[in-house]
Amino acid sequence: MSESQLWDAVDDYFTAHLSPDDEALEAALRDSDAADLPSIAVTAPQGKLLQLLAEIQGARHILEIGTLGGYSTIRLARALPADGRLISLEYDPKHAEVATRNIARAGLDKLVEVRVGPALESLPQLADENPAPFDLVFIDADKANNPHYLEWALKLTSAGSLIIIDNVVREGRIADADSTAPDVQGTRSAIEMIGSHPRLSGTAIQTVGAKGYDGFALARVLA
Ligand code: SAH
Ligand code: DHB
Ligand code: MG
Repeated sequence: MSESQLWDAVDDYFTAHLSPDDEALEAALRDSDAADLPSIAVTAPQGKLLQLLAEIQGARHILEIGTLGGYSTIRLARALPADGRLISLEYDPKHAEVATRNIARAGLDKLVEVRVGPALESLPQLADENPAPFDLVFIDADKANNPHYLEWALKLTSAGSLIIIDNVVREGRIADADSTAPDVQGTRSAIEMIGSHPRLSGTAIQTVGAKGYDGFALARVLA
């Protein structure tokens, strides 16, 4: 068995016992595939981790940057109370349309709003609305903009909020200080901003699994 087959087998085992996809999550992935969206949603165990973190956080207001077909959105929104709110920002109108259907089928359309457009345009518009601070921000869009998304997340959160950044390892490329790849540079700036920012305390964790070797960063807003 290759290393990655082993990671798949372990993810399958954990998924079967701890985080099986129900009909709505399965249908969200099926319809995303059918519409030719890329297969880059978080894995089932990662999706359940997002839900658990949002639950632990007692999140009432969640911001997601990068919706894709709404798989992670559905997991996060399931942590919300009946009067909670999740805003998810998505660049691609086709992705947003597929996600909107998937979210409605999951019965979450009252809680979730998908906003279409480049997140760096949607974020200032959102800030202009003076929303209640977001208790959790999940950053999972174009990685080159991670430092900008982190800046906006700081503006839109308050003490105790949790910021999660997906895909911070990318098969170890994050460790290459000389990389000229915009995604690596963007993610390195975000990691270094977490480390040096007076309002943030964070960490990053490497993962293996059905989506290969990657990882995520967690940062708690201190003040
Ligand atoms: N969070 C999803 C996966 C998101 S994939 C999940 O785990 O289920 C990344 C998404 O970010 C893609 O749908 C892509 O279209 C979107 N994206 C890329 N650049 C963006 C931008 N500038 N603004 C908003 N969304 C963007
Ligand atoms: C890519 C983006 C993601 O958000 C992810 O989880 C995996 C891969 C990508 O752009 O390749
Ligand atoms: Mg991701």
